[in-house]
Amino acid sequence: MSLPQPASPSSQALHVVVLAAGKGTRMKSAHPKVLHRAAGRPLLEWVLALARSLDPASITVVTGHGARAVEVAVAAPGVRFALQEPQLGTGHALLQVQTLLDGASGRVLLLSGDVPLLTESSVRRLLDAQAAAGSALTVATAFVPDPTGYGRILRDDAGALLRIVEHRDATDDERAVAEINSGVYVFDLAPLFPALSRLGSANAQGEYYLPDLVAIHRADGRRVDAVALDDADEIRGINTRAELAEVGRVLQSRINAGHMAAGVTLVDPGTAYIGPDVAIGPDTVLHPFVILDGQTRIGANCELHAGTRVIDAVIEDGVTVFNHCVVQSSRIASGALIGPFARIRPDSDVGEQVHVGNFVEVKKSRLGKGTKIGHLAYIGDAQVGSGVNIGAGTITCNYDGLRKHPTTIGDGAFVGSDSTLVAPVTIGQGAYVAAGSAITDDVPDGALGIARGRQSNKAGWVAKRTGKPPADR
Ligand code: UD1
Ligand code: CA
Repeated sequence: MSLPQPASPSSQALHVVVLAAGKGTRMKSAHPKVLHRAAGRPLLEWVLALARSLDPASITVVTGHGARAVEVAVAAPGVRFALQEPQLGTGHALLQVQTLLDGASGRVLLLSGDVPLLTESSVRRLLDAQAAAGSALTVATAFVPDPTGYGRILRDDAGALLRIVEHRDATDDERAVAEINSGVYVFDLAPLFPALSRLGSANAQGEYYLPDLVAIHRADGRRVDAVALDDADEIRGINTRAELAEVGRVLQSRINAGHMAAGVTLVDPGTAYIGPDVAIGPDTVLHPFVILDGQTRIGANCELHAGTRVIDAVIEDGVTVFNHCVVQSSRIASGALIGPFARIRPDSDVGEQVHVGNFVEVKKSRLGKGTKIGHLAYIGDAQVGSGVNIGAGTITCNYDGLRKHPTTIGDGAFVGSDSTLVAPVTIGQGAYVAAGSAITDDVPDGALGIARGRQSNKAGWVAKRTGKPPADR
């Protein structure tokens, strides 16, 4: 006979709450602190990514300062918001989710929107510790060289957690404690809100302090615990721009380490700026100061030289991008050579083995296999076939001041240098355009289009003009 087993605590529903209502005064910013970006993401998005990795029953963000902006920035299925207005402290902030969690059971994981370095494995350790002990509250702590400003963890002689005291309310002895409150907690939901409603605000800041829950639970005879994390860096909060930069560097180095482990060469990992959603194939080499943003995907065996930026683009295998190029929302097919100093603007499709050279701008255009545009050209709204040669200084005149018009260039065509192709216009397959032409009419397949004034030389003109024979000038 099998008896029904009580649900083990670790199988209880997990509700994540992220505090993000604070002002962030020291950022000296018009924007909410949690929307400042580190390593390509708003701070709050890093915390939400951690929350999602735990596959929780719910995620609630407490907003206050800049609430609307925060909600718009991180809106996603499964993320809900509770407004804290006015902001009366961290305990008051958590109280704002009480109605949303009405009737729910299980546990609450409390995270801070400005603590983006916390890892999934540390949070799982905290959750396991709370479940194993069946605590009403388990707080993550760390030992730091300089605990100034943080809440201090006070333990009894046996090491049991007694209470948490804020820096401003602490005595000198208490301030000497190096173990700090991370602001990350796991709560048993059942006693949480009744205890929270009993928080007072008789302290240095006149706020409802969440850490005071420790003393309340203890007074009621419930178990509380503190779990020290190995890496104190993980709980670093961001209060200033300097901290934002430091934490950004740590996040970036984690991303970069992941790519190197997967077979990507970073010539200088300290200057490789790779967004969190970027994918890169093995044996690709990134030189210093390469920036890869958004949903960019880079194939295998590519080489991206210094100073190049790629945004939301797909670069296939074996592509070389020379120095200082910008590629956005486009595809570069395998074997292409781009740059130096080329700009590939959105909605371009650059075919296999294409060469786009120095100071060439391509916008919303398709370039067929093996086509060459070596120097100083603007190709916009164009369909260019394969094996086409486009000379230096060629311009598609795609804009008439009101509308954009298309240019079509057939396979194997040859466009001489410094030609202007006034769109809409078609250059036929295998057709030639003479250098310096202003092409306003279609050039048929296999024809030569030439559209420029004829040269005439005026013999002796200079001597007449200056009154001197050429040798005396
Ligand atoms: C808090 C803790 C402190 C801990 C530290 C860790 C309290 C009273 N103190 O201090 O023990 O060492 O975090 O970083 O909890 N927030 C709101 N509403 C509010 C106030 C704050 O949502 O009314 C949010 C903030 O946006 C932030 C988080 O709560 O995400 C922490 O608030 P903050 O003011 O930074 O607390 P600290 O003084 O750093
Ligand atoms: Ca803080």
